[in-house]
Amino acid sequence: NEKPSALIMIFGATGDLANRKLFPSLYRLFEKGNLSENFAVIGVARRSLSNEQFQENVKNSVQSVASNSNNIDEFASHFYYHSHDVTDSDSYVALREMAVQLDEQYQTKGNRIFYLAMAPEFFGSIATHLNEDGLTNVQGFKRLVIEKPFGHDLKSAKELNNQIRTAFSEDEIYRIDHYLGKEMVRNIEVIRFANAIFEPLWNNRYISNIQVTSSETLGVEERGRYYENSGALRDMVQNHMLQMVALLAMEPPIKLNTEEIRSEKVKVLRAMRSIKDDKVDKYFVRGQYGEGILNGQKVSAYRDEQMVDPQSNTETFVAGKLLIDNFRWAGVPFYIRTGKRMKSKSTKIVIQFKDIPMNLYYKTEQTLNPNLLVIHIQPEEGITLHLNAQKTGNHMNATPVKLSYSNTGIDGINTPEAYEKLLYDCMRGDATNFTHWDEVALSWSFVDNISQHWQQTQTHFPNYESGSAGPKDSDVLLARDGFFWWPIG
Ligand code: BG6
Repeated sequence: NEKPSALIMIFGATGDLANRKLFPSLYRLFEKGNLSENFAVIGVARRSLSNEQFQENVKNSVQSVASNSNNIDEFASHFYYHSHDVTDSDSYVALREMAVQLDEQYQTKGNRIFYLAMAPEFFGSIATHLNEDGLTNVQGFKRLVIEKPFGHDLKSAKELNNQIRTAFSEDEIYRIDHYLGKEMVRNIEVIRFANAIFEPLWNNRYISNIQVTSSETLGVEERGRYYENSGALRDMVQNHMLQMVALLAMEPPIKLNTEEIRSEKVKVLRAMRSIKDDKVDKYFVRGQYGEGILNGQKVSAYRDEQMVDPQSNTETFVAGKLLIDNFRWAGVPFYIRTGKRMKSKSTKIVIQFKDIPMNLYYKTEQTLNPNLLVIHIQPEEGITLHLNAQKTGNHMNATPVKLSYSNTGIDGINTPEAYEKLLYDCMRGDATNFTHWDEVALSWSFVDNISQHWQQTQTHFPNYESGSAGPKDSDVLLARDGFFWWPIG
């Protein structure tokens, strides 16, 4: 396999994402020998910095992931800096000249990756300039990597898409959903399609419900300005949560390639029943955190956070019931929930199987525990299968037992970061784990119905304490169907 060569331009190179994720991920690829020598990076941002200053930033940012610090200087020597004005053509022309020279110097085969890791209001105009000022005029491949949020609703997402499509074709656009870089999210497909014992049961005859939870302990931190206009529905549900649902629900692809996998996911999103108007209150619950105690510390309410309106109606929690109207899933609820300032940081999928037809082991009230397959996405990575068996000496009684597999090494050190895998995929031209426009459009149209209804109706916020499992109504949502949330741990 040839190692990828490319010139990577990172817009927003002085920002948090570049420093916390992108530089360290590139470094790990470099250290493992997955990058060829023929790569260079141009950091692009407004601030004025010399190449040397920028290289210092890069070195600092990769320090903690470097197992051998001898490589750091050599790695950083591939980094250059361009102080940029995103609205000024001259600045793009200067960037182009720098790029042409580095293409030559590093023999990048004219391959260029444009990574937009910055405020989304500039995505469209940058793409337009890249085209008009000749930066996308390349000898090799050109790819655009674009961070979320991809629009604010379907309408703005379409506008943005039309703008970037003037410079890049659909298969040159890599829309990041970092959940698709997570090891165990990628594993969903393998667990399903590589095991004879799951796939035959993976349908409405044997599965009673599926629960997808992504809970965080962090609050909104310093992102109040962005989050106020987003809320958990746009921030987490439109992308990460629906992506996990699509992977859980899709039909087996005929081949493991980008097109086939994405088209199966698209079909799931098309089959998702749209929930609108009054129905929203029956299927969806929103919440906002109040103050509370988390890890022994008092933490403040969302409305008291920086850059947050003291009367804010923005939701920091969402729980919902999704129905997928196709042969496989008719009648099986997919429950999703996500929230900030909850009692633990955990992303987990629970597949609850139906009860067996008759309980031979217990008379009267005591019931057998249902079989569960739990996919631990983070912080633990692995799977647990909950079964019933008889323990020695416990004559004729069934006891729950768990079979567990942990995907991480003892210390978890070797688990590559989501961004590392996504960057590598992009360099190799594998778009499977990036979101196709059709997925973006379908998930926005689903989410828009809900946000429209919420906008028109009253909230009673705050309605959950920091450090809790979310609002009571989220439990009621499942209780109405005779279910409950399996604990988030
Ligand atoms: C991001 C959201 O996409 O995902 C954040 O914008 C959220 O608000 C984050 O905190 C959660 O990601 P992870 O990988 O920590 O579960």
